[in-house]
Amino acid sequence: MGFGRGKVILLGEHAVVHGYPAIAVGIERGVHAEAEVAERDLLRLDPWDLTLEPDREAEEPLARAFSAVLDTYDNRPPLEVRATAELPAGAGLGCSAAIGVAVLDAIDGALGRVRSRAELGEAALIWEEVFHGNPSGVDNTMSAVGGVALFVRGEPLLPIRSNKPLHLVVGYSGESSSTKQMVASVRRQLQNDPERVGKTFAAIATLVRNAKLAIESGDLVALGQLLDLNHTLLSSLMLCTTKLDAMCQTARAAGALGAKITGAGGGGCMFALAPKRDAAERIRNALGDGAFIAEVSA
Ligand code: MEV
Repeated sequence: MGFGRGKVILLGEHAVVHGYPAIAVGIERGVHAEAEVAERDLLRLDPWDLTLEPDREAEEPLARAFSAVLDTYDNRPPLEVRATAELPAGAGLGCSAAIGVAVLDAIDGALGRVRSRAELGEAALIWEEVFHGNPSGVDNTMSAVGGVALFVRGEPLLPIRSNKPLHLVVGYSGESSSTKQMVASVRRQLQNDPERVGKTFAAIATLVRNAKLAIESGDLVALGQLLDLNHTLLSSLMLCTTKLDAMCQTARAAGALGAKITGAGGGGCMFALAPKRDAAERIRNALGDGAFIAEVSA
């Protein structure tokens, strides 16, 4: 059985595309996949009831991504892969990367290929590239490796250690968004106003570095403040929506130490940091339908 985790970016999304650090966590929800030798190559994807053949020229990115991944295996038999996603798509939780990792992991299993989770994460970059041209690599890396870590594009992942678990509450706005479009929008803003957007990225990098210290020392109050500040900076890049802002306010009013959008923004998910498990339950209830608790150990 192959598995790719979903991920939550705690701080640093978008800036990470341009070489700045981000902190992300792997969550228990993800994508499971199985592969077996068959008569022809096929990818079945639930809960969307999709069946696809690999096709390098297809309009459907999943068919192109499947083709790109299959091409990395030499002398293989035809394979049927069945994947089941527990994550909403286009929601900032790394669903596409998790599918890529799970599919590769399942194919490795069927063909008896052994590689480390870090290598699996690297291999899944090819899948992510199909979906949004210029991925930093944070989603596929965290999907494969998990934990809490500091990620810098092109550098080895740096695990962050702490004695205190992080109680996160993830809420989905129901608005789906395209990572490709949001990354392109931020790139345009950077081109049009390099000084302002460069300063925003540098400020985000400072928040990320301080957040690493806050996680390591178990200072959740400080971490919450840093999340709120990162949310404001992401809003200044036009990545927030009215609904996501309202959800962050609801979470704070219900006792969250901090709350922000996560992932590409423009829709998708927000998350809140709760001081403890019972507070996380209150925040989840306040956020209502579809919100869930992700408890992460660093
Ligand atoms: C998407 O989950 C995170 C972004 O920073 C894009 C990337 O890092 O590739 C928006």
